[in-house]
Amino acid sequence: MDYTKLSSYVDSRKQEYLNELSRMIRIESISADLSKKVEMVRCAEAVSGLMREAGIENVKPFETEGNPLVYGEYIHAGDNPTVLVYGHYDVQPVDPLSEWETPPFEATMRGDDLYARGSSDDKGQLFMHLKAFEAFGKLNEKIPVNLKYIFEGEEEIGSIHLEPFIRSHKDLLKADVVVISDTAMYGRDMPTICYGLRGMAYLELSVSNSTIDLHSGSFGGAIENPVHVLADIVSRLHDRYGRVAIPHFYDDVVEVSKEEREEIARLPYSDGEFLRQSGALATYGEYGFSTNERLWIRPTLDVNGIYGGFTGEGAKTIIPSKATAKVSMRLVPNQKSEKILGLFESFINQIAPPTVKVTVKKMHSGEPALTPIDHPAVKAASAALEHVFGRKPYFIREGGSIPEVLTFQQILGAPVVLLGFGLPDENSHAPNEHIYLRHFYDGIKTLAIFYEKLSM
Ligand code: BES
Ligand code: ZN
Repeated sequence: MDYTKLSSYVDSRKQEYLNELSRMIRIESISADLSKKVEMVRCAEAVSGLMREAGIENVKPFETEGNPLVYGEYIHAGDNPTVLVYGHYDVQPVDPLSEWETPPFEATMRGDDLYARGSSDDKGQLFMHLKAFEAFGKLNEKIPVNLKYIFEGEEEIGSIHLEPFIRSHKDLLKADVVVISDTAMYGRDMPTICYGLRGMAYLELSVSNSTIDLHSGSFGGAIENPVHVLADIVSRLHDRYGRVAIPHFYDDVVEVSKEEREEIARLPYSDGEFLRQSGALATYGEYGFSTNERLWIRPTLDVNGIYGGFTGEGAKTIIPSKATAKVSMRLVPNQKSEKILGLFESFINQIAPPTVKVTVKKMHSGEPALTPIDHPAVKAASAALEHVFGRKPYFIREGGSIPEVLTFQQILGAPVVLLGFGLPDENSHAPNEHIYLRHFYDGIKTLAIFYEKLSM
């Protein structure tokens, strides 16, 4: 394929791309919101439509007990490698809505970016694969590899139904390599291959006492207040060195080699830039580790939200009946989510006072994963990035999670290449999510060239 032609073709299609992506973005596919079931199905249909229009064959939805999966394929490259592309069409909730400068589901151009929920995570990036595929047909070029696609609508809630599907459709999904564009580049114009993601263990911790809220004059001071107990428990989850205080939490953590820590230290990094991206006042974290190490090679525990009792306007005097915290733990190799959830539960049972009832409800989990850095497919990705971005890629880990990466590697026996085009400050999961359009177009070109380099 003539890369100059590819580049001018992609550049000539910019407006159409934005129009089509905007139509998919308009569908409010928030997987965490159970009132959006219809939107989830509509979004799966929109993805199928885009796939068919691009020329992908045998496109079909697979019902699950949750949101539909969408499969498609194009198998005309004989003995050349088979690539499985994975992405997700579900998005995160949009609250707080009042902080969005433009409506979350109306894709809006501002400066060099396109703003909307899902623009970067992951509708925009999923879309890039479809356009990379389509480019071959439009340029009358033969598709150089066999392609399979699996898109899901539950990634943001833990990919609950994808794992059994992968297990029961091993042959359908069989591939030589899996490629996922759902991670961020290290920075603007810094092509990146990610080789590690953290895992996840998510739970809800509730403390209750009475069955209903009680008058704090009639009962306050004479029974235990669940909000106080929860606050106390939360404060005991970390020690003063920023470490998680759950016994045996670190037992299985693989100490990262000196060489890898040196590699990480060699990456360009500045506190100033990190603080600008986060908007935070100062860095913080586990004693003895750099920011990137805290994010990539160390496990964490975070309270995502806490509620209970009276939080409305004005004043009301009660002893709340119940208080709840939503807790997530990011895991690193070789921690296992099931074991970590168990350790959390035992610790809570050990420290909770007998005056209240404490429950731990497991929500979802995913295992940490490392991907190869010396596989031929990684070399192909690296060459494609270098061609488009004019420099060799950075190799990084990331702190986020894609629950099924390890499953793909273990069940399909195929390496996963994490070739993402987002940026760390694109506000994914936050108000005003956006995607840097130059990376969006360059990403389409990179993916097309990647497919071709894989066949060489
Ligand atoms: N695209 C992200 C994963 C990600 C985030 C990779 C940041 C690299 C850097 C993905 O859509 C996501 O947010 N996943 C969830 C998974 C969780 C709900 C199991 C996450 O990481 O919170
Ligand atoms: Zn994502």
